[in-house]
Amino acid sequence: MQITALYPGTFDPITNGHLDIIQRASEMFHRIIVTVALNPSKSPLFSVEERIALISESVKHLPNVTVTSFSGLIVDYARQTGAKAIIRGLRAVSDFEYEFQMALMNYKLNNEVNTVFLMPNEKYTYLNSSIIRQLNQFEADVSEFVPPCVVSALELKLPRA
Ligand code: COA
Repeated sequence: MQITALYPGTFDPITNGHLDIIQRASEMFHRIIVTVALNPSKSPLFSVEERIALISESVKHLPNVTVTSFSGLIVDYARQTGAKAIIRGLRAVSDFEYEFQMALMNYKLNNEVNTVFLMPNEKYTYLNSSIIRQLNQFEADVSEFVPPCVVSALELKLPRA
C-alpha cells in the first residue's frame, strides 16, 4: 500500500532535528509532504516562501519528499492531499502531553488519518527553532544544528547584514 504522510510544522527555521525525522519518514512512506503551517498566532522570522525554499533545499536529495504550505486544519489538508498519516517528532516527555492532545483531536476530526510519532536521534532532542533563532541573534555558531543553507539565511537576518 502506498501511503502519503504529512509532516506539518512551523519550521522557523528547519533544523537538523526536523531533517532527521524527514529522513526516517521518507524511508517508511511512499510520499512525504513537508508542510509549513500558516499560523497567525506566531510571528515568524522567515516568511513562508523563505521557509519553503530552505526546506526544499535541505531535502533535495530525497526524491519522495515535497514541500508545501497550508492554512486551516491539518486534517482538512490531509483530506485534500489524500494523506493517511501525520508525522510528528517526539523529542522528550515534555512534548508528549501536547502531541497526545493534538493526535487525539485530529483523529476525532478525521478518523481516516493516524498520527505517527518518530523519535529523532538523541543528539537532536534538545533542539528547537527558537533556540536557533536566539543563538543566531547573539551571533553564536549554529552550523552544527541546522543545514548549511539555513546558516547563510540566518546570517542575512542579522541587523548588520
Ligand atoms: N527537531 C527540532 N525541533 C523540533 C522538532 C525536531 N524534530 N520537532 C519539533 N520541533 C520544535 C520546532 O522547531 C518548534 O520550535 P519553536 O516553538 O521553538 O519554534 C516546536 O518544536 C514546535 O514544533 P512544530 O512542529 O513547529 O509545531 P507547532 O506547535 O508550531 O505546530 C502544527 C504544530 C502546525 C502541526 C499544529 O499547530 C497544526 O496542525 N496546526 C494547524 C491547525 C490545526 O489543525 N489545529 C488542530 C490541531 S488539534
